[in-house]
Amino acid sequence: MQTQKTARYLSLLPVTIAFAITTVMMGQNTITPKSEIPGKVEALLAKMTLEEKIGQMNQYNGFYDVTGPAPKGGGAQRKYDNLSKGYVGSMLNVRGVEQVRAVQKIAVEKSRLGIPLIIGFDVIHGYKTISPIPLAEAASWDMEAIKRSAQVGAAEAAASGINWTFAPMVDISRDARWGRVMEGAGEDPFLGSDIARARVQGFQGDDLSDPLTVAACAKHWAAYGFAEAGRDYNTSDVGTGTLFNVVFPPFKAAKEAGVKTFMNSFNTLNGVPATGDKFLQREILKEKWGFDGFVVSDWGSILEMKAHGYAKDGKDATFKAVTAGSDMDMESDLYVTELAGLVKEGKVDEALIDDAARRILTVKYELGLFDDPYRYCDEAREKEVIYNPKYQEDVLDMARKSIVLLKNENNLLPLKKSGQKIALIGALAADKSSPLGGWRIASDDGTAISVKEGMEKYDGNTLTYAKGADVVIGPATFVRELTINEDDRSAFAKAIETAKNADVVVMVLGEHGYMSGEGRSRAQLDLPGVQQELLEEVYKVNKNIVLVLNNGRPLAIDWAAENVPAIVEGWQLGSQAGNAIAEVLYGDYNPSGKLPMSFPRSVGQLPIYYNHKSTGRPDEAADNMVFWSHYGDESNEPLYAFGYGLSYTSFAYSDLKVKPTKQGATVTVTLKNTGSVTGKEIAQLYIQDPYASVTRPVRELKGYELVTLKAGEKQKITFDLTGEELGFYDNQGVWQVEPGQYNIFVGGDSDATLMKSFEMK
Ligand code: NOJ
Repeated sequence: MQTQKTARYLSLLPVTIAFAITTVMMGQNTITPKSEIPGKVEALLAKMTLEEKIGQMNQYNGFYDVTGPAPKGGGAQRKYDNLSKGYVGSMLNVRGVEQVRAVQKIAVEKSRLGIPLIIGFDVIHGYKTISPIPLAEAASWDMEAIKRSAQVGAAEAAASGINWTFAPMVDISRDARWGRVMEGAGEDPFLGSDIARARVQGFQGDDLSDPLTVAACAKHWAAYGFAEAGRDYNTSDVGTGTLFNVVFPPFKAAKEAGVKTFMNSFNTLNGVPATGDKFLQREILKEKWGFDGFVVSDWGSILEMKAHGYAKDGKDATFKAVTAGSDMDMESDLYVTELAGLVKEGKVDEALIDDAARRILTVKYELGLFDDPYRYCDEAREKEVIYNPKYQEDVLDMARKSIVLLKNENNLLPLKKSGQKIALIGALAADKSSPLGGWRIASDDGTAISVKEGMEKYDGNTLTYAKGADVVIGPATFVRELTINEDDRSAFAKAIETAKNADVVVMVLGEHGYMSGEGRSRAQLDLPGVQQELLEEVYKVNKNIVLVLNNGRPLAIDWAAENVPAIVEGWQLGSQAGNAIAEVLYGDYNPSGKLPMSFPRSVGQLPIYYNHKSTGRPDEAADNMVFWSHYGDESNEPLYAFGYGLSYTSFAYSDLKVKPTKQGATVTVTLKNTGSVTGKEIAQLYIQDPYASVTRPVRELKGYELVTLKAGEKQKITFDLTGEELGFYDNQGVWQVEPGQYNIFVGGDSDATLMKSFEMK
């Protein structure tokens, strides 16, 4: 009989698959009821030796091709022996049913207790079918679409033998130099929290044992996104107020959404490596928030405490990590070598080991791995689910919703569908890999629809393509430092000639997909290489330019913003990138995305974010043009503010009313589509607490609504504000809701001017 849960995911799939999966599921063992799991875990723990319990806390990267012969000698042999002895609880980067089944078989059949492995993988924005990078998805502000995108990644990964993803990354960041902003939801904790919840629900579903879902992992705990100067792995020094009000909320939201695991982070936070931080892992996460899942270290981060200057050696690092609450060691190979000795010497209480093993075993039970270790290993399902065409529709939907229209002077966009000569310029326009972005390790190069392919489907115009310039030279790979093309202008002439003869020039410029992501910080945020020069050369012969940006972070494109009439933020949009961009360019999809992160005018403004505090000297006075908080050579304002984004129609806000209630206030506003086509607006509400016991930001997002209106149509929108939106954490990390005045702003971005105040009693 089909269970409710089965029916839910079957409804997401085509009939053929649904049939195959029903068949598979009917043959599956029944799942241990939740209520029985604690008892089973305790019974198992009682049978385990100290070394076996520590083994559960050990995670290895895939270390050999399991379909080949078993390793002989060296480190791989030792790892293989540990696996056979039950001294490995998890592996990462083993994927594909054949490989996963083979390693699982070793764990289950060779080890004394046959405890199955939990198999982890970075499913950050898709597995085979690739979704937009998370920062792009965040621009949709559409929680259903984001959840669906995570479901797609989970389904493909789970069908490939994986049962745990190292996602979502919920790090808030205010610095576009940091390459990993592409993996997060941007700069805002309110939006970031909603997205954290949506992604956790998408990955995990309602029931972890569903073989098309995976356990999720909120990372990186904590303050990894506050790396000084935006340089990856760098120090974070963050005050209590910012920690509690900005850094923590998305993690708390993930916890409340039931996320099963957390990953700690590479950085130090206020002088303590997060991996060895008791305050973060034990006091806040496990004690205060009551998190009962497990914490995995980041890759090698236990050993890295030595380089940080926090641990004397591997043994000391092990002691510090385990006492701080890091339950699983990813690839430091230290727990399995040092921990038993520390327990035997009486330095580490065995209760800590029991606690960690208990947490890990519980998740394995919930995943159904004890009921069937090969639950995620079904060749027929793998074949049906991977690259299923249905998923292309889902990622296309997500890609469309992620696009942000930044500028559209004189309605240059949408493009006319016929009778036009269009020049398409830029190497990224024809690139079928770069749109797959920075975390697509399981996917296949060349599988994205390029902008060129997307535009070619509109055949009423003449489209002529010229590369203009390469962005990178040589192969772009996940682990290779990319060589940016700084001097090859040999293809400029052809591009300029093509542009001269065109009615409109579409230029696809920006960053290659591998220019953002882990270890990919940038000190410049311009169009890399010779692209800015190319843009200006083309502009000399044809000013009718639509600039389509491809990038994994906000860019400082002040010249383009000043001169180019139309700019479309096209991020790295995944498998369907080119189709989504072409639909927007031709007006078949009216763009509705809003920026989840401020775009700076120049790198010197960083970190730049809308929800900053006021200084004591915020404004220029007529008689004091020097001694106020500003730059002598740059504006304080971002190029494009948080929450900003245009549409092919226009919207007007009016009739803002704020009615105090017992809990806070009810805010109403009328939104009208004042343009000539149907459009979707993301109406945003910001609060300001102008005077408080601890200074509050000049604005904070506390509500938003996605509203689709036909031309001329209007709608009343209501927001309810309670203590939850109006309060804040003080400098002791204690929640406060203070009486007094609150200013409410409603509009289409964080610069909204429509304002009303109310008094909170
Ligand atoms: C290091 C990254 O920081 C982390 O996010 C990732 O999950 C692990 N490597 C595993 O690939």
